[in-house]
Amino acid sequence: MKFALVTTVVAALCAPNVLGVPLAARNTSLVPSSSSTRQLTDADVLQFALTLEHLENVFYKQGLSRFTQNDFLRAGFDARFFNQMRFVAGDEQSHVVFLQQALTGLGVRPVSACRYNFPFRDVRSFVGLASVLEGIGVSAYLGGAGLISNKNFLGAAAAILAAEGLHQSTLRNSLGLIASANIAGTAITPNAIFSLASAFIVSCPGGNAALPFKAFPSLSPRGGSIFSINSFSRFAIGQGVIIPPVFFLTFISGLEIISIPGTFAGGFYSARIPRQVSGQSFVFLTRTANTGAFSESSVLAGPAIIEVTPTVPTLNFSVL
Ligand SMILES: *[C@@H]1O[C@H](CO)[C@@H](O)[C@H](O)[C@H]1NC(C)=O
Ligand SMILES: *[C@@H]1O[C@H](CO)[C@@H](O)[C@H](O)[C@H]1NC(C)=O
Repeated sequence: MKFALVTTVVAALCAPNVLGVPLAARNTSLVPSSSSTRQLTDADVLQFALTLEHLENVFYKQGLSRFTQNDFLRAGFDARFFNQMRFVAGDEQSHVVFLQQALTGLGVRPVSACRYNFPFRDVRSFVGLASVLEGIGVSAYLGGAGLISNKNFLGAAAAILAAEGLHQSTLRNSLGLIASANIAGTAITPNAIFSLASAFIVSCPGGNAALPFKAFPSLSPRGGSIFSINSFSRFAIGQGVIIPPVFFLTFISGLEIISIPGTFAGGFYSARIPRQVSGQSFVFLTRTANTGAFSESSVLAGPAIIEVTPTVPTLNFSVL
């Protein structure tokens, strides 16, 4: 079912909430100076990728050290899926090692893993969060690709991106979501990814190089955590963010970037979800319309993550 006009569809807010765990406020002390304007290097992008791979690696280790195959079976997953999870976790572990070696090869000290707080409480919320995290991973590699200068690194990043896409597909399928819900992956900028990742990070080793990225003020869906799998249309912002009377909700989904004029009522910011939004997608509160091209300078808050289930596509058999 596709929520074309969700602001008025109450059911959308009651859709299955895989996680539903409220998320702690972002640790803004992790936010590096926004005055950083130096040119990004390939090492910065690799450190950023390593930061995310550490996060995923620790996430899977936490879940798979806590839940046994029997826990997965009791939660309604089969033994084959439990086995798939071990391969996914093994990939993330190897991505960490790969990026560490690449950075060491550049003469740069790789960042170490941080301490994290992952809001899962059982197998189902662990798998739900895994699916959302893999989607964030796909979007991070896509958004970072254009920032890489060295073609060899770009090729390696594309190869890792394919693995992250396979993980996302495996996880989405296990949750009954459409695995390939969009004609394309969704690229979002490192600052947007950093905003999402920082919500899980409690603290990082003091020796870690500061990343030249900044977190935007948070945008949380009404009735759930940012990391819920849900089709939200109403969002709340953190304290201290001033929203002008005219604002937009900007949706990024696959190759589509669409701004819709927003309304404010009852403490929530909302807009109609455009019909082009499909699968795991991102929403920003922006000062101006961004349709077709995204300008970070217009961001007031975000991203929030939404999940929109597409309708079955019409297939054209006249090409036979
Ligand atoms: C936020 O991060 C800083 C730096 O890593 C850490 O010292 C602090 O304890 C963290 N605060 C919270 C509330 O997690
Ligand atoms: C189906 O494909 C044919 C051949 O490419 C094309 O001529 C036709 O317009 C298509 N029909 C639709 C509804 O897209």
